[in-house]
Amino acid sequence: MKILDGKKIFSDIKSELKKEVSNLKKNNLKSPHLAAVLIGNNPASLTYVNAKVRACKEIGFGSTVITLPQEISQTDLLKEIDELNNSKKIDGIIVQLPIPSHIDENTVIHRISYKKDVDGFHPINLGRMVLGLPCFLPATPFGIITLIEKYNIQTLGQKCLVIGRSNIVGTPISILMSRNKNFGNCTVTLAHSKTKNLKSLSLDSDIIIVAIGSPHFLKKEMVKKSAVVIDVGIHRIPSELKRSGFELIGDVHTDVSDLASYMTPVPGGVGPMTIASLLKNTLYSAKKVIY
Ligand code: GUN
Repeated sequence: MKILDGKKIFSDIKSELKKEVSNLKKNNLKSPHLAAVLIGNNPASLTYVNAKVRACKEIGFGSTVITLPQEISQTDLLKEIDELNNSKKIDGIIVQLPIPSHIDENTVIHRISYKKDVDGFHPINLGRMVLGLPCFLPATPFGIITLIEKYNIQTLGQKCLVIGRSNIVGTPISILMSRNKNFGNCTVTLAHSKTKNLKSLSLDSDIIIVAIGSPHFLKKEMVKKSAVVIDVGIHRIPSELKRSGFELIGDVHTDVSDLASYMTPVPGGVGPMTIASLLKNTLYSAKKVIY
């Protein structure tokens, strides 16, 4: 089994982006700038936002974190987003999900200017993605296809099973894997909580992308030999074996590595690729290469 090393590819992409920043500076242009909105004190969200800011600093991007209290009203949050939309300094805006339940997620996502929507969640970007038009691709699916391309994994004509139909991962990656471009051309099945006979579908699949949000959901007996397995899940579970008292596990059981030809590790697989994609989208926004 070969590891799809997201951490390594992330490092390569950061080096490329660093060069882009120095070229921009040579031409007296400003560095790309990412704004992250963090609401409340969800420890996982704080970790993700910190990782995004750290990556920005490493490559010379500017970054701003707007930290807001859990009780913030929707109206006040939308005002913050409007300010970021109107700021000449800011190229990319993300609102770290999940957001508190008294705020409507769609209203917030739709308020971010699609021109600064580097998460690729806005309906204009998703609509353009479906049509194969220039857009900010959603960061996690963009990271997955980059990883598959970097490892030269054959997708044309392959059977791809996507498990999970979220707006931010399962649904968009199912479309990208089936598109008729250099990349894609898979026969895609999108499985979800109501799917029957999941095991027979997964046993028949060449590529399996698991984004169901359930620890160790995909087990060895569900995978055929030499399948390519992409694990989007990340769960923090208590562990007596670790000094920290917890370990990170994915949606895929580690035993699957006995059968898979390629597999993403957790951590160090899809997670860093999501950040890599966010940085690339922020650069595209600053260079106005998409709109
Ligand atoms: N929460 C989990 N994944 C993501 C992501 O890709 N972007 C944002 N903004 N929040 C998330």
